Order: sequence, then C-alpha cells, then structure tokens
Amino acid sequence: MSRVAYVNGAYVPHDEAVVSIDDRGYQFADAVYEGVTVRKGQMVDLEPHLDRLARSMRELAMAAPMERAPMRFVFREVIRRNRISDGFLYIQISRGVARRDHAFPTTPTVPSLIVTCKRLSIDGVIARAAKGVKAFSESDIRWGRCDIKSTSLLPNILAKQAAKEKGGFEAVLVDSDGYVTEGSSTNMWMVRTDGTLVTRSTDDNILPGITRATLKKLAEEMQIKVETKAFTLEEAKAGAEMFLSSSTGCATPIVELDGHKIGDGTPGPVTKRLVEAYRAYMEA
Ligand code: PDD
Repeated sequence: MSRVAYVNGAYVPHDEAVVSIDDRGYQFADAVYEGVTVRKGQMVDLEPHLDRLARSMRELAMAAPMERAPMRFVFREVIRRNRISDGFLYIQISRGVARRDHAFPTTPTVPSLIVTCKRLSIDGVIARAAKGVKAFSESDIRWGRCDIKSTSLLPNILAKQAAKEKGGFEAVLVDSDGYVTEGSSTNMWMVRTDGTLVTRSTDDNILPGITRATLKKLAEEMQIKVETKAFTLEEAKAGAEMFLSSSTGCATPIVELDGHKIGDGTPGPVTKRLVEAYRAYMEA
C-alpha cells in the first residue's frame, strides 16, 4: 500500500506530494514542526504537542493554517489512511508562499500545512532501551531561540552526523561553559550517584520536550527526586546513569559517552523504571 500525505488541503500519494519552490519553509526554514508518537493507533500527548505548535507559531508571528479541531481530524485521517499502528506523525507549518525576500511578506500569505506519517517500531525503541546507546559530545553552535521548534536544524544535523560517524546514536550538545544543553533531537537527563534525576530547565534555551515533561511527571509520581538544573559534561560522565528523551526515542539509556562508560556501562535502575513507566503511559 502506498503512503498518503496531507498537503495544503488535499490527501495525495506521498511520492507525488509537492510544495512550491517559493515556499518560505523551503527558502528560509521559515517553518515550525511537531513530531507525535503513534502507539497502537493513538497519538501520544497530542494536546501538549498542539500547545507547543501554537506557541512556536505565536513566537514567530505566523498564522495558523486551521483551527485545532480540523487539525486533529487531519492527523487522525493521515494515520488512518496510512494504516499506522505504531509510527511517527510529522506536522510542518510554514509561513507560506511568497516572492523571495527575507522580511515577512507584506501581503498576507496562506500558511502551508503538511502532515505525513511513517511506521516506527515502538517495540524496537523499547528493545533498544534495554541495551542502551552510545553518545558523543559536540559543541552546541545553535541560536538563542532553541525553545522554538523550527525546521531550521542545520546545527542539529551536523552534530548528529558527527556523532554518528564516531559510532554514536546521539550527539550530546555542550555550550561554551561546558554545560549540556540537550541532544541533537532529544532532551538530556542524568542520575547523580545519590539517585537524584537532573535535567536542564526549559527556561534555559532548549526545546521544552513533551516526552521530557511526561517523564518528569512520572518520575515525581514514583517519588524520584527531580532537580531542574543544568549539568556539565563532566558531571554527566561522573554520574550513575544518563538517558535521552524524545517522541521517537521515548526514554533511551546512554551507557557510553565519548567512549567513557556511564555507571557500569549498562542501563541503570532509575532509567529502567522510567523506560517501563513511559511504555505503560503510552498505552494507557
Ligand atoms: N525532536 N530537543 C530537540 C532539539 C528536539 O528536536 C526534540 C524532538 C526534543 C524532544 O522533544 P519531544 O519529547 O517533544 O519529542 C528535544 C523530534 C523527535 C524530531 O526532531 O524529530
């Protein structure tokens, strides 16, 4: 069965879906996006994703292409038409099509909306979490508005590629003061040797991850002490456990960082509890 995409009002075969070469998303990455996990046909944390999407648009003075209710309908329809049980729903909104000029178009444009969905084995993600992954630190060379989920992702791509070429699964981004900001497409967490879970504040120029927020809530419910504070690369290496979180990665242990074992080099007890809690949450 061929894939189906939603593009500006129409459901079209994925391979035939096109946008204008004058779309500002294409020309300038003047676009925002969201990625939602689909588990057993249901969208995980859809409302917080829609809240973040609205916020990204607001911060960039971008108009919404449609109200929330029809948007939810389109998402469900794309999932249904692609017959996705476990997958990743991708939503992208650009400022629209206009003659190329850096400043916003002076005559209002119609924002472009594209929605696609691909299969993603959530069971595979959970299986990977049982083993953990390797990561490598890379300099965070991004801008000062990483809280906006924009498609302007070149620094993220370069960091991920560099980590991949070293044999890593993810890049741990580090600022000029030695503090971990986040991953190339994930949020970062560490567990101190006293069992305290630490993750950077979302007021501190990182993407406020939806998975991060859910994991934080689950951790608090499980009486795990959570500290919302920046940690350095050195602290992470000296910690007991480390993991990443994202819609595509759920909670995935990092067992090796820059070739250095985290803890004993296997997923630790706090991370394992959170992986299991998140798995159950997705299905609830
Ligand atoms: N990435 N930080 C960055 C820079 C991200 O790009 C993402 C998400 C996250 C985690 O956010 P969430 O838990 O809401 O997925 C953190 C998505 C998966 C992507 O770019 O495909």
